[in-house]
Formats: sequence, structure tokens, C-alpha cells
Amino acid sequence: MKSIREIPLHGRTVFLRVDFNVPLDKNGNITEDTRIKAALPTIEYILQKGGKIVLASHLGRPKNQVKPELRLGGPAKRLQELLGQKIYYVPDCIGEVVEKTKAGLKNGEIMLLDNLRFYKAEKENDLHFAEQLAQNIDVYINDAFGVIHRQHASVNALPSLIFDKGIGFLMEKEMEALDKIIKNPAKPLVVVIGGVKISDKVEIINNLAPMADIILVGGGVANTFLKGLGQEVGASIVESDSVSKKQEKTNYLEVAAGIFKRFQTERVELDVILPNQEPLHKIQLPLDFVAATDTKEGTATKIIELGKDRVAPDLMFLDIGPKTIKLYQEVLTRAQTIFWNGPIGLFEMPVYAQGSKSVAESIAETAGYTVLGGGDTEVVVDKFDLKGRFSHVSTGGGASLAYLAQKELPGLSALE
Ligand code: 3PG
Repeated sequence: MKSIREIPLHGRTVFLRVDFNVPLDKNGNITEDTRIKAALPTIEYILQKGGKIVLASHLGRPKNQVKPELRLGGPAKRLQELLGQKIYYVPDCIGEVVEKTKAGLKNGEIMLLDNLRFYKAEKENDLHFAEQLAQNIDVYINDAFGVIHRQHASVNALPSLIFDKGIGFLMEKEMEALDKIIKNPAKPLVVVIGGVKISDKVEIINNLAPMADIILVGGGVANTFLKGLGQEVGASIVESDSVSKKQEKTNYLEVAAGIFKRFQTERVELDVILPNQEPLHKIQLPLDFVAATDTKEGTATKIIELGKDRVAPDLMFLDIGPKTIKLYQEVLTRAQTIFWNGPIGLFEMPVYAQGSKSVAESIAETAGYTVLGGGDTEVVVDKFDLKGRFSHVSTGGGASLAYLAQKELPGLSALE
């Protein structure tokens, strides 16, 4: 795979796939522009080298139709402010107007196409659509780390049509950071997995468990493990079974129990023991929870200690409890490398935010190498003002999980 540094750019038209999938408020204003800023080094490099840039991105999930609120006019304006130079925004991504604007680009100029996902063909990895995107393009650069796991036309079919192709600086930075987790990590390596669903975490857990010293689990994922292992979890959120796109049904309670048992006999060498003097588990589940019968503000909460307190059928586990917080802190302080993905509890409500906050703070305080998955994990660290306290925060949620699961990635294989 080539780096942008190895490709001649002067006077050439570069299709630069970026991930400008930024959060918007209900009036369509950008609320957070990290992803636009993250693409600047590559954009500025191409400009410096005298290339012409055709920027392309998706925004949200418009479901194959033009949704005015998901047009890329907002990101175009923001990019223009950041660069202090005119961005020629075209309200389409293929067709006559696009080609006319492309043809008029001078060296050092930039145009931005509209949302690629307005066309069904993008998600279908359609070759004819890719051919239209490829018109009058000399170089293809992918800097959209957030979509490397998507088999979409602008990510997969398009680069197969262009000879000079490679990755930009953001992609390089993401891969370098994530490689430090899976290739010779400084030990101990501690992985923290939270979030609601286990289905999108199974592959990463399976791949990282053999190389990690321990996996600390929280959120809905922990409930699914516990229920799978026969623990009563009341009305807590659990992913029992789910039907995949291929219509295959998976029983995630069985899957979770299977993963736990596979690593159950592995010793954890961390100089930490459980409060009952037993050794830690390789897949370590919470010992206690903050629970309530409702998520309405003001509802009484109680601490439930597993194996000691009865779990009433209407009770929901909404955050990890004080014993788990202490245990996870002790483990995290010993880590040399940490990867964290997914909130630990219902952190949006202050009463259930302590678990996520303490995990975020413990990770921020370690001197080791720390990497956070994007998406909700990033929202957690923003909420607790911890931005900038980690070695790397990925711009990709699903993409960082897929990369660390070492799955075949259509966005990267197309560049080989
Ligand atoms: C992301 O937000 O993780 C990326 O932009 C990919 O978006 P998608 O999950 O809609 O493909």
C-alpha cells in the first residue's frame, strides 16, 4: 500500500475520500468538527504539491435518497473557514455539473462533491457508479479511516479503477496507533469493552483476548455475558439474539458464555486479586452495579452486589458499582497499553456516569500508551473534559473495531 508521499501530485486531479460524517444539530449546524480538522494535513499537502482536489464524503445514513439536511454544504463552509480558501461545493457527486467544475479546477484548488450515499450505488459498490466518480481523476487517496470496513463504491470499487492510489496522513496515523495495540504492544495490555451491543464486539474480543492481559467489560455487553453465564440480570439491557444482514440468527447469550469459558482457565498475571481473594478472570465482568427500576430522573437507585444481593425482575443495571470501579482502577493503573471502546454505563445521566468517568480518568492518568475507539467513547471523554489526555482517539467507531479484529478491510485491500 502506497503513502501519498510516494505519488506524484503536481498538476494532477486527486480524488480524496474523506470522512466528513460530522455530528449536526437539528438545524443542520456542525456541532463537532474533529473529522474535518483531521483531514487538513492531507488536504494541505496536496495543495502544497500543486494538485487539484476533488473531495468526497458520506454524511449520515440518507437511505439512498437526497435528504437536504444531509447535504455537504455545511462541511464545505466549515472547511472553507478552516483553510481560508474557496471550496467549490457541487450539489451532486456525479454528472455534468461535477465534470464541468472538475475541468475548471486549477492547481491548488478544491471542490467538494455532495453526499455519496444519496446514491444507492455507493452502498452497492456499483462499478458503473465508480466509473462515473473516476472520470477525469488521476490519483485516488483514501483518508477516510471511518469507512475502511465498508464495501462501498468510493472506498472499494473506485480505487480498483485508478492506477495511482494510496493513503493519506490521517489513515497512516490511525493505522500506526492501532498497530501498537495488535503488534507487539507494551505489556500489560488492558482492553476495556463497553457499549450496548455485544454483536459488534465479538470479533474484536475474540481477536484481542489471546494477546491482552485482561479484558474489562462494562455496559450492556457485560449484562449479556452475565446472563449467558446464568446470572440473573433483571430487566437490564441484554442482546439475546440478533438477525444479521444475511438473515442468520445468532444466540449472543451462548456466544458470550462460549467466549468467557474459552479464556476462563488462563491466568491473569497482574498482581491484583478480586475482593473474595480469587484471581482475576481474563474476561473480567463487573462485581456490582448501580441499579434502578426506571431511567427516569429521580428514581431511587441501589447497589447490587452479584452473588450476594437478590436481583428483582424489574431491576436494571445502569452503571458499574463501587467495588467494580475500584477493581478496574487498580487494573488500569498497571497497564502499559490500553484500548477502550464503549461507555461503561448510562453515562448521559449523572447518576449512572461514575463508571465511565472513572474508567476515562484512570486511562487518562496512566503513563502508558492509550487508544480510544471513536463514536460514543469520544462523547464520554468530551463530556468529562478529558479530550487531549490520550495517546490517540480514533476517528472511526466501527472501523477501529474492525481493524483491531484484523478483519479483511475493503477500503485497504483495494489499495494493495
Ligand atoms: C462513522 O461514523 O463511524 C463513519 O463515518 C462510518 O459511518 P457508517 O457507520 O454510517 O458507515
